[in-house]
Amino acid sequence: MMKTIATLSSALVGIAGAQPIVIAHRGASGYLPEHTLEAKAMAHAMGADFIEQDIVLTKDDVPVVMHDIYLDTISDVAQKFPDRHRANGRYYALDFTLAEIKQLNATERFSEKTGKQVYPKRFPKGASSFQIPTLEEELELIEGLNKSTGRAAGIYPEIKQPKWHRSEGHDISAIVLPILKKHGYATKTDACIVQCFEFEEVKRIRTELGWEGRLIYLMGSFKKGEKVTNEKPSLAEIAKVADGIGPAISADIVDVVAQAHAAGLQVHPYTLRIDDLPKWAKSTEELLHLLFDVAKVDGLFSDFPDVAVRHAHGGK
Ligand code: G3P
Ligand code: CA
Repeated sequence: MMKTIATLSSALVGIAGAQPIVIAHRGASGYLPEHTLEAKAMAHAMGADFIEQDIVLTKDDVPVVMHDIYLDTISDVAQKFPDRHRANGRYYALDFTLAEIKQLNATERFSEKTGKQVYPKRFPKGASSFQIPTLEEELELIEGLNKSTGRAAGIYPEIKQPKWHRSEGHDISAIVLPILKKHGYATKTDACIVQCFEFEEVKRIRTELGWEGRLIYLMGSFKKGEKVTNEKPSLAEIAKVADGIGPAISADIVDVVAQAHAAGLQVHPYTLRIDDLPKWAKSTEELLHLLFDVAKVDGLFSDFPDVAVRHAHGGK
């Protein structure tokens, strides 16, 4: 395993700023249900440089790969365990053991209110059979594909809602980071970029928890010249602990990238969805041109990694 990881450092495109990276957002989630191992294998085959893992904990403290703390919009939990919701009607991964979560069928994301799939042109809701993977199952899959294909893809794990997890008595970062290290991801030359939306946790990951690898602070929307607030730190403050930022794609991305680069931060915006472009973008190609060629982002999250790879790497 260590040998496979060691070979990755030479393939760290984008990290050194030479070539931007394409990050498969929840895998090739434009084509298969998000965060399933099938979606991750497809993303690897499509040439994604990094593959994303959103991570939450089960009741028995096993990190699993899913976007929300809720199970009810990506699985059949409401049919299999109808009485296990909280007072708000939601089914929390944290209330289920891994053995229970493994009984669920994962599916294309659907609306909690209407039950209809969020992106109607994507993989049909409820079709075929998929599981919610553990973090370690996914790391083994990517390590295996790196070995069998000879093409090294990195991992891009996101610690989901650490403050909430801690309020429930579970320290998600303290559980996830040792697993990354066990799999050989520990330093900035390893093909791993940890990300988090909560700046207090980004600081804690770097200081108290001693993470020495790459680290990205997810900023949500971030506008040109935006003022510092209690919720949002300055770019200079971010640069003390993180290697870059993940802002939402915005029309002023050119200015956002310029500001961040001036602060020594890389920029990996999210999320390119060819079936849900921003209203101001005329076409996928125009948006890709703006992001990669004009703004010069260092990376891009995409539900359609093949489309981003074609533009960023010329059909690699
Ligand atoms: O982590 C980058 C991007 O995935 C952030 O948005 O909500 O899809 O996790 P989200
Ligand atoms: Ca994410």
